[in-house]
This record gives sequence, C-alpha cells and structure tokens, in this order.
Amino acid sequence: MKVTVVGAGAVGASCAEYIAIKNFAAEVVLIDIKEGFAEGKAMDLMQTASLNGFDTQITGSTNDYSKTAGSDVAVITSGIPRKPGMTREELIGINAGIVKTVATNLITHSPNVILIIVSNPMDTMSYLAHKATGLSKNRIIGMGGALDSARFKYRLSEALGCPASDVDGMVIGGHSDTGMVPLIDKAVRNSVPVAEYLSAERMGQIVEDTKVGGATLTGLLGTSAWYAPGAAISELVRAIAQDSKKMFPCSALVEGEYGLNDLSIGVPCILGKNGIEKIIEIELNAEEKAKLAESAEGVKKTNDLLEGLLA
Ligand code: LAC
Repeated sequence: MKVTVVGAGAVGASCAEYIAIKNFAAEVVLIDIKEGFAEGKAMDLMQTASLNGFDTQITGSTNDYSKTAGSDVAVITSGIPRKPGMTREELIGINAGIVKTVATNLITHSPNVILIIVSNPMDTMSYLAHKATGLSKNRIIGMGGALDSARFKYRLSEALGCPASDVDGMVIGGHSDTGMVPLIDKAVRNSVPVAEYLSAERMGQIVEDTKVGGATLTGLLGTSAWYAPGAAISELVRAIAQDSKKMFPCSALVEGEYGLNDLSIGVPCILGKNGIEKIIEIELNAEEKAKLAESAEGVKKTNDLLEGLLA
C-alpha cells in the first residue's frame, strides 16, 4: 500500500512514524509546502528503520504532488493547528482553502485514493472535501472519533485505576469541545458497565474531561497534540490496508442514519479496503440521541460558514 501524508508537521510526521513502525505499508510519502521540511522529516524517520525494524519506505517532497501518484490512502493534516484558547472552529477561514486545494491535487494524481481528513474544524473540512471533490461517501473519512475515543479510554482507565486495555468506550458526534458525545452509559471494564464502579459525578467528570481532551493538551503544549492524533490516524490507515472491517467512530457523510442528513459527523463506521464500508446504527438512549442531534446542529452551523469562504 502507498500512503501519502500531507503536512509534515507534528501530526503528519507522527502519523508517518506510527504507520512505519506498524510495518503494514510499503510506502509513505510525506509532503509539505515548507522547502525541504518533508524531505528532512522523511530522512530522519528513515534513519530509524534499522533501529525500529520496519521496511516501509518513507520519502519527502516539497509540494510536488506527482510524487504522490498512485496513493491508496492520503491523510490531510495540512493547515494551521490551534493555539491555546482557540476553538477548532476558528481555523476554518485558512484551512478551508488549503483542504480544498490539497484534496483536488491528490485526486488528480491518485484517482482511486481514499482521503482521511484531519485538518480542523475536521467535520466541516470532511463535508467540504465531499462538496469539493464529489468522491463517493465511502472514500472520505474524517478522523476525530478514534482519537476522542482513545482520550475517553484514557480518562476511564485513570478513574478506574486500570490499564486502558481493560476498558472500552466510544465517542460519537462532532470533533469539538461542545460537540463530542462520549457514550459513558455504554462504556465498560471487561464487559461490566463502568457505572458499577464509578459514581455518577465521576462519570460526568470523565465526560467533561474527554470533551476538552484536545484543548487541555493545547493549553499544556502551546499547540495541538500529535502523538494520539498520529496513532489514531495510523489505526484507520491500517484497517484500510488490512481490510480488517474494524469499527471506529469516523466523521462520515450521513444520509438519514441517526435521523441526520447533509453533514459529516462522527458515527460508528466499519473500515476496510473501500474506506467506510458501512455506517452502523447502534441503539442510542434518549439522552444520547438528544446530544447527537444537538452536536449535529453545531456542526451544521460551522458548515454554514463555508458558504462565504468558498463561493
Ligand atoms: C486534537 C486535534 C487533532 O484533538 O483536533 O488534538
């Protein structure tokens, strides 16, 4: 498999590193607009190949999309990340133009590519990618829910005092501080609902901490996080590469699922060689349904901002 990662910043480079370490892709092309930057990151990463034991070939290019030709999957991380105090939505003005141009360039050289959108505000950028490219809905995957779910599992394991591998949980809805819907009533430790171990108050705290998971890190780091985003992206790419049919919450174009239409939002998806192979409609309780509907309203409001920007 050939994977292109657009944007050799922290998220893009971290994603390339995890893909290489997991050793499932033949080739990763890193591409960036900053002269020599992607080439440098690629060379540095390739110098870890003998140490980390991978065979993936990583190359870098300064904005030459011909190098990305024949990619099976392309990850779009380009654009500006948020600074402390900023919401993901505030990035829309700059990132919309970048995502549209990048998506078009990628498809020109790789007509069959599956796009994974990471640039923020991610749900709106995924929707924009649909509108700008007209690709079939299975080929545009917004990466947010896999990351938010990992952060949810981190908070659950912290509260339960157990390893993250003991817990399971999922975050659906928009990838924003207000839009995330951590499904706390469905979260389990070794198949037992977490309500058996935790107070309602502690569960409420986990939900709140999960929703501001990215903002907390932005406050600590001075910029957006990269390890967990990179790892989450690499897992989506792996599910496609290995045609695993694994389920991840991804931002997908909904056409009636969960009563929602005409937006991309985080819903459980089966990933395989065709990208999003299926959206799974799980049973939601009344509160979860209301929260998802409210989240969709928020995403749609951000989508409305695209009109003035891309006319
Ligand atoms: C975050 C960015 C990737 O949540 O949206 O860290």
